[in-house]
Amino acid sequence: MRDQQRRFDRREYLTLAGGAGVATTIGLAGCLEDAEGNGDDGNGDDEDDGNGDGEDVADDGENGTDDAEGETIVPGTAPGFEPFQMNVDGELVGFDIDLLEAVVAETEYELGDWEELEFDSLIPALENENIDVIAAAMTITEEREESIAFTEPYYSADQSVLVQSGGDVEADDLEDLEGLEVGAQSGTTGEGVVEDELGDDVDYTSYDNYVLAVEELERGTLDAIVIDEPVAESFAGDRDVEIAFTFETGEEYGFGVRQDAEELQEALSEGIAAVEESSEYDEITQEWFDE
Ligand code: ARG
Repeated sequence: MRDQQRRFDRREYLTLAGGAGVATTIGLAGCLEDAEGNGDDGNGDDEDDGNGDGEDVADDGENGTDDAEGETIVPGTAPGFEPFQMNVDGELVGFDIDLLEAVVAETEYELGDWEELEFDSLIPALENENIDVIAAAMTITEEREESIAFTEPYYSADQSVLVQSGGDVEADDLEDLEGLEVGAQSGTTGEGVVEDELGDDVDYTSYDNYVLAVEELERGTLDAIVIDEPVAESFAGDRDVEIAFTFETGEEYGFGVRQDAEELQEALSEGIAAVEESSEYDEITQEWFDE
């Protein structure tokens, strides 16, 4: 019953938030088994620019933005955020992984090998040019837009509060968390909620990775976690934790690029639109959201 309720709430929210083109399809199960489709290393080494220097066009990324044809872009992500990005049997998989691959396939760029970083390190890595695009369920915020740029949104989310299943934390809204030990991942909007809404009223711990926080919750050494709702749903489905309540933040995820990478930004946004218009977006959604 509670499950049904939550599911309904979520679908309702997604319908209301339809501007981002988000559609959650209730259906297909077994999302984790089809982990392939990430097979192409996408490093562009099957292309030669034909100028006789034996170098791929993809290798001259230096000269900037004029000609995207075959230029390799290196994607970065922060696994441990299911079902958007996680390691399953040592392999990086998830919604964002498949989506970015589909989106880049719509462009003239080639996708390089994925870099796995802590969430907090993604924006610095982008700025340092260690990576060229962030695909990490990253919410588009004004604060982040001061240092990087985002594509058009590709997914909408709110924040949920996760607690231990059957534990003694009873919470229906943020105020109920006062006096408790609360965790979130460093640098996330969930952490921002704790800082902005609860401040010193809670005993806050910042984690490099949400998986570590969820494990503490299961052990009962942490009372509550603030985390994106789709990810909370996923953890609740496969660990000993449950959603206490969800509150609307109306966040939208975008792929992050450097501010001067306007051509890439535009190409990716067009790629997102193309993938949403084709059946691909729904297929990827069905594959990773199996409720
Ligand atoms: N959407 C939230 C944010 O942008 C959380 C993202 C966390 N992503 C991750 N891959 N760990 O802050």
